[in-house]
Amino acid sequence: MQIDLDKSDPERLLRYYFGGYASAAGADPFEAGLLVARDGAFFVDLDALEGRQAENALRDADGSGRIEWEELEAFVHATYYDARQVPSTAAALHARAPYREGGWFEVEVDGVMTKARRRLFVAEDALRAALRTYQDNGEQLLYPSGTVIVGEHYVEGTHVETTAMLKRGDGFWDFATYGPDGALAFTTHTGPRDLKTPTQCVGCHFGKKQFDPEKSFPGEARPGPHGPRALHVTPQARDAGLVRFFDEHRKRSDTVLGLYGTLFIAHLQAQQRAGELSEEDARLLEGLIDASS
Ligand code: HEC
Repeated sequence: MQIDLDKSDPERLLRYYFGGYASAAGADPFEAGLLVARDGAFFVDLDALEGRQAENALRDADGSGRIEWEELEAFVHATYYDARQVPSTAAALHARAPYREGGWFEVEVDGVMTKARRRLFVAEDALRAALRTYQDNGEQLLYPSGTVIVGEHYVEGTHVETTAMLKRGDGFWDFATYGPDGALAFTTHTGPRDLKTPTQCVGCHFGKKQFDPEKSFPGEARPGPHGPRALHVTPQARDAGLVRFFDEHRKRSDTVLGLYGTLFIAHLQAQQRAGELSEEDARLLEGLIDASS
């Protein structure tokens, strides 16, 4: 059946959503036969999806003869977490990616995603891998598959919610939201909007719009309508040269919007000044400096 999302770059969205349902992890949904492109139109093989979740099947609910966005959205909302086998609790996520332990780079931010203060965690080894391949990947920071980036949401110092991105084998990320009880939740609840997972996450992360405080960095951002917009980093981390070098927020390589590469290198340079840099990280810095000069 034809599928017509009436969105810009429908192929990317189709690859994202149906890639999540292609049988082998990271399988291309076109190669897997789930999707067919013909004469600029896209078709989905409903039989290949059906049987799996009969009562939530993807179907032409309004009888228009094609699958439209609202129909795909309803299907995704009903089946996405199961199909992706996203860790079912924040504790299970932590067991897979122990982000409160050593070896994780942490950034605190008041940003646009939620009114809560966010504590972001990225594995340092994932950052190192993305930084080491920065030049080879055409000056983009691309994280290895299996990378998990976690954002804990704090309201008045209390941890109330967790969001995460888990990198799939096909280069896209799965999105997850965990509520105050630690269980998977359909939406966030820390305002200003309840964000539906994954469809509204995709909206910002796939888009081109720039957001504060990342957009103004290394300058300070002005407060937004719902509170402060600030990256809570040391003054030394506000390095204009590094911000220009990576141009990380504008490029949003890998649909990642935070400034983890920029801030991690600033952190390594601070370690270097203090004489505390490991040999491995000294080589990482040298590689980037050689490439930039
Ligand atoms: C209004 C736009 C917007 C929406 C909607 C949005 N995000 Fe984000 N997200 C951002 C911005 C900007 C950042 C970087 C700054 C920050 O962390 O606040 C970010 C960062 C993240 C990060 C850390 C990795 C990164 O890209 O920096 C994760 C994980 C994340 N978001 C998950 C989600 C999930 C899950 C949803 C849906 C429930 C979602 N996001 C919806 C804008 C958005």
